[in-house]
Amino acid sequence: MCFLSGWFNLGQKEVMYGKKCIVTGSNSGIGKETARGLAALGADVFLVVRNEKKGEDAKKEIISSTGNENVQVMVCDLSSQESIKEFATQYRKKHKRLDVLVNNAGIITAERVLSPEGIEMTFAVNHLGYFLLTHQLLDVILKTSSSRIVNVASCAQSSINLDDVQNERKFSGRNVYAQSKLANIMFTYELAAKLPKNTTVNCLHPGVVNTHLFRNHPLFSGVLHPVFDVAKNFFKSPLQGARNSIYLASSSEVSGVSGKYFVGIKPSISHCQSYDAGARKRLWEISEELTGVKYGI
Ligand SMILES: NC(=O)c1ccc[n+]([C@@H]2O[C@H](COP(=O)([O-])OP(=O)(O)OC[C@H]3O[C@@H](n4cnc5c(N)ncnc54)[C@H](OP(=O)(O)O)[C@@H]3O)[C@@H](O)[C@H]2O)c1
Repeated sequence: MCFLSGWFNLGQKEVMYGKKCIVTGSNSGIGKETARGLAALGADVFLVVRNEKKGEDAKKEIISSTGNENVQVMVCDLSSQESIKEFATQYRKKHKRLDVLVNNAGIITAERVLSPEGIEMTFAVNHLGYFLLTHQLLDVILKTSSSRIVNVASCAQSSINLDDVQNERKFSGRNVYAQSKLANIMFTYELAAKLPKNTTVNCLHPGVVNTHLFRNHPLFSGVLHPVFDVAKNFFKSPLQGARNSIYLASSSEVSGVSGKYFVGIKPSISHCQSYDAGARKRLWEISEELTGVKYGI
């Protein structure tokens, strides 16, 4: 039995054997542990990272701890739409299937900065990165039976002003992050309604996890840094934080389950704006406008 099987009903190590899984932001934190968990279950894992050296270091670590050699690094800067399209083209050239896409990469910024396309960076990486990457890989996902999309959201959710999604009028790093995480949930619900039955999409809150995410968090940098240093001892480890992602990516308990927001292994209630069909539709249209793509499903 594999070391993960005690957590959930995952069964034997081979449960993901031969399945192709992409995990974004997998050189550190929750993403690295998600990739390690899927490799331990026998999957072919693609570490999608913006820094190749960090990716290669994570790859070595994952191969040596799992014994699974089928781990590859692919470079993609999720803040750049050009880079996302280039990465997806490279993937589609070589691979005809994609069993699991884990949209995990995320950031918090202290100040309002812009992506290469001139879009507010947190919205660009945390929401449009998930939206565009999923779109670009959708044909291989749909060609694969029982494929799964997993979006790493958060319990930090704040309502989105749909007339100012890039927070041009008022910027707070913490709020903008929470808006982007609500956008992950709204994207999940809207996409689930469009996908055929044999492809599922779910999202999750991983818990409060001790990772690099907080390095730019306005609450925890600066004078409050010593407080954070103490507080983080009470956070989950990245391995514990990865459990929900691994569960949604691999467990037979959730096969066929789609359009849910999970906290732990249970579907949960999300922010009220996520249940507003008009708001979801508007966010979808804005996302298509800002990325220049149409889903066509
Ligand atoms: N930690 C928590 O308590 C918590 C709670 C709720 C939700 N989450 C969510 O969990 C996910 C993972 O975060 P984490 O806590 O594991 O943080 P983390 O350790 O900082 O990991 C974030 C990952 O995203 C990558 N990334 C950032 N910007 C990128 C870009 N432009 N292109 C490609 N990759 C990029 C980072 O790469 P670099 O190493 O190159 O920066 C890193 O690998 C995020 O979506 C976050 O919102 C975390």
